[in-house]
Amino acid sequence: MKQKEELIIILDFYGQYNQLIARRVRECNVYCELVRHDISAEEIKSRGAKGVIFTGGPASVYGENAPVCDPKIFELGIPVLGICYGMQLMTHTLGGSVECADKREYGETEVLFEKSPLFDGFGKSNICLMSHTDRVESLPEGFRTIAKTDSCKNAAIENPQKNFYGIQFHAEVNNTVNGLKIIDNFVKKICGCSGSWKMSSFVKETVSDLRNKIGNGKVLCALSGGVDSSVAAALLNEAVGENLTCIFVDHGLLRKNEGDEVEEIFGKRFKSKFVRVNAEDRFLSKLAGVDDPETKRKIIGEEFINVFEEESKKIGTVDFLVQGTIYPDVVESGKGQGAAIKSHHNVGGLPDHVDFKEIIEPLRDLFKDEVRAVGRELGLPDRLVDRPPFPGPGLAIRVIGDITKDKLDILRDADYIFREELEKDGINKQANQYFAVLTNVRSVGVMGDYRTYDYMIALRSVNTVDFMTATITRIPYDTLERVSSRIVNEVKHVNRVVYDITGKPPATIEYE
Ligand code: XMP
Repeated sequence: MKQKEELIIILDFYGQYNQLIARRVRECNVYCELVRHDISAEEIKSRGAKGVIFTGGPASVYGENAPVCDPKIFELGIPVLGICYGMQLMTHTLGGSVECADKREYGETEVLFEKSPLFDGFGKSNICLMSHTDRVESLPEGFRTIAKTDSCKNAAIENPQKNFYGIQFHAEVNNTVNGLKIIDNFVKKICGCSGSWKMSSFVKETVSDLRNKIGNGKVLCALSGGVDSSVAAALLNEAVGENLTCIFVDHGLLRKNEGDEVEEIFGKRFKSKFVRVNAEDRFLSKLAGVDDPETKRKIIGEEFINVFEEESKKIGTVDFLVQGTIYPDVVESGKGQGAAIKSHHNVGGLPDHVDFKEIIEPLRDLFKDEVRAVGRELGLPDRLVDRPPFPGPGLAIRVIGDITKDKLDILRDADYIFREELEKDGINKQANQYFAVLTNVRSVGVMGDYRTYDYMIALRSVNTVDFMTATITRIPYDTLERVSSRIVNEVKHVNRVVYDITGKPPATIEYE
């Protein structure tokens, strides 16, 4: 591994917020890497790390298989910050004692601070998130207490001579007020990092690492046109150019103009090879007459793999398969380190059907907004980078009941108008996902002097952080009225438009 200019090494003790710590360090514009907890002190030194952070974790230092660190880390002369279990491990290793409590302390707690470089710029107290069972009882030599709570006498400790710090609470989560400032103080004031690292450095370093790894090998990418696979493809395009082939399966279930937009960017502007497979007929004939949502999903998933497999066989053996896995996918799949792919990801199952040697997941440590920032760095258009999530089965789960090309075209036009109007009024900035749905309902209407019996379009727009729960977007009536009037005037066979005012739960975001 090559040496970075300013590096913070984070030792992973399996806490649930570990990548969040890495993300916070990056937010301070300092490069960091999350590594196994048993990394040797020698390696940390040879890589020129300016500081070390120990994460939290579920173990107790007295546990049989408790993860430990190389004790020589404390002899390197570089600062160490231990968080939760990390603080307890530091205490235990350096001769202090940790008390095994049987009651967990969990929640937002007021923490009282003393003067310390770690709390530079702080007032007397803050709300911090506590989540621990064991706690530090007596301090190792040279340490003093720098924070406490009503029930925790050593909420934070320091050894200012050696630059060792420990916090019992979680500075990395949003519930801890000024948490980012603690990390910022550690990496800049204590470790002396300048904070000059940027996303552009991530792009440069990742591209160079990918080049070294891939050499002249052949790379294959299943491009969906969504943010993650597009950014992953753009990184690989930058790194290996023509040795990358992107296969874009157009299943005919995309939004208006979307297939052409993907082709325009990846087919024309990129050096890599681009294959667009127009498989609309295949998908629609398999879906004909099917109205059960789960059957629709299954058919689409299987057919996607069939098409992709056929196309990839034409290319022959490839060395690497690229996946746009991002950090929340790793967490959602519940597999943690070494995880492969999110189970409901639209390219799920592919690796079993393609002949390749290794998977490359260049975005697996990044959060969604960081992925978008990487996309911007690589020159992808905002329209693509800011795109809200779009489900793998596409419009198939937004046409309720059986699917026909005519129904899909009606939906595409209505959806386009809705999105255009929300974007015009800037409402897309507050909504996290917005789209139209073709309901299976037809009703009576009147157009001019004629009776109509046509479809009802439902509009859906939600605000959400994690897509697990969602509230409706409060779209002004004026906007809704304009959308409705444009849809019924411009889209044939629609005579009624409704706005869905149901949150999640009880409804899901998609209709099927
Ligand atoms: P629901 O409908 O479960 O959706 O509230 C939550 C989020 O997941 C997306 N979604 C999917 N994404 N394949 C995907 O790649 C799928 O089968 C799928 N189903 C739902 C949905 O668009 C929303 O963002």
